Amino acid sequence: MDAFTYRSGEAFCEGIPLEELAKNYGTPLYVYSGAALDARCEALKAAFSGHPTLPCYAVKANTNLSILKRIAAHGFGADVVSVGELEKALLAGVPADRIVYSGVGKLRSEIERALDVGILSFNVESVGELTLIAEVAQKKQKRAPVTLRINPNVDAKTNPYIATGLYSTKFGIAENEMTWFLEIASNNRWLDLVGLSCHIGSQITDVKPFREVAERMATLSREIQAKGFELRLLDLGGGLGIRYQNESPPDFAEYARTLIPAAEAAGVRLLIEPGRSLVGNVGVLLSRVLYVKRTPAKTFVIVDAAMNDLLRPSIYRSYHEIRAVRDGGTSRIENVDVVGPICETGDFLGLDRTLPELKPGDYVFVEGAGAYGFAMASNYNTRPRASEVMVDGSEARVVRRRETLEQLLAPELVD
Ligand code: LLP
Repeated sequence: MDAFTYRSGEAFCEGIPLEELAKNYGTPLYVYSGAALDARCEALKAAFSGHPTLPCYAVKANTNLSILKRIAAHGFGADVVSVGELEKALLAGVPADRIVYSGVGKLRSEIERALDVGILSFNVESVGELTLIAEVAQKKQKRAPVTLRINPNVDAKTNPYIATGLYSTKFGIAENEMTWFLEIASNNRWLDLVGLSCHIGSQITDVKPFREVAERMATLSREIQAKGFELRLLDLGGGLGIRYQNESPPDFAEYARTLIPAAEAAGVRLLIEPGRSLVGNVGVLLSRVLYVKRTPAKTFVIVDAAMNDLLRPSIYRSYHEIRAVRDGGTSRIENVDVVGPICETGDFLGLDRTLPELKPGDYVFVEGAGAYGFAMASNYNTRPRASEVMVDGSEARVVRRRETLEQLLAPELVD
């Protein structure tokens, strides 16, 4: 379903005109479609219905509590990378035994808390971490479920900043080091090796790397099982890409057909950690045009959303479609750079875009902003972070209040 559509030249989210939302709640504003999110969750579940699968939503993609609650209500687990994400997932109603904990730098205090609440597994990335988990587990007299996160040295063919499956990255355990980890795990009764895991990168639009990794992970699981380990799961990570411009990523059905055989071959439950593919296209960033600045070289549409609100274009050079909220059919088309108010040339939402002629007070919206949008927002230039609203049919509800200057300054008012 497409939750963001035009009716008579005016953009809507479900049953509400975006302009109405902008006027009621102010801009910059993240707008999410509840129906679109539900549809993505159900489509994913349906695609994987042929094999026992637990989708653990990668909380980092969008950590809004209302989004988490909604995803949890579909029976999803969570993939967390900090105690903050762990607490949010629990608060949102994700049962602890559906939570996996990823990340290369887990703190002792984080391991303690995760063990206390009884998570499904720690995805372990180094010997130092495995040793620390064992130590904490012994102290608490509680066995720690762990998976070994394998670095399969596979090129996910995505932006290098978000590719994680190559030996040149900080992630995972090289296959030839696995025996070492297995020895540690088998000699320590506080460690319970429940499976293998991996995650080769994000915004992957080609099915081949997924296939390659799934096959490799199935083989490795079988080898470990042959050594006497009773594996219970195979976690193949997240990374499925979405369409921002003209990509054609695999759909959930093709993705499932690619991954399921690996878990079947190993005779274990499948885990996946989708983030972007669930929430990416269920949200937009709504913004108001402040000025239109015509210089001899270019036309700049200066809007009130900036790189602190949506960082992806600036740091990854990611393409996000930008549209005018009122796409008045007769107006002139212009080639423009859509930029924010921040004092950096790198502060842009889109370069060389073709848009209807805009004037101050008009609204634009940036598509594909549901994943790694608000989640990566900052206060750069002392800008309070945007508000977030969730739309359901013809109702909208604030799911995060706009940050105030008072809140922003409070931690520094120390004298
Ligand atoms: N699992 C692990 C261990 C991860 O590190 C990630 C993402 C995911 C799952 C979810 O991946 P997804 O399904 O969302 O692709 N800020 C970047 C993306 C960073 C992804 C980091 N890890 C961006 O805006 O493109």
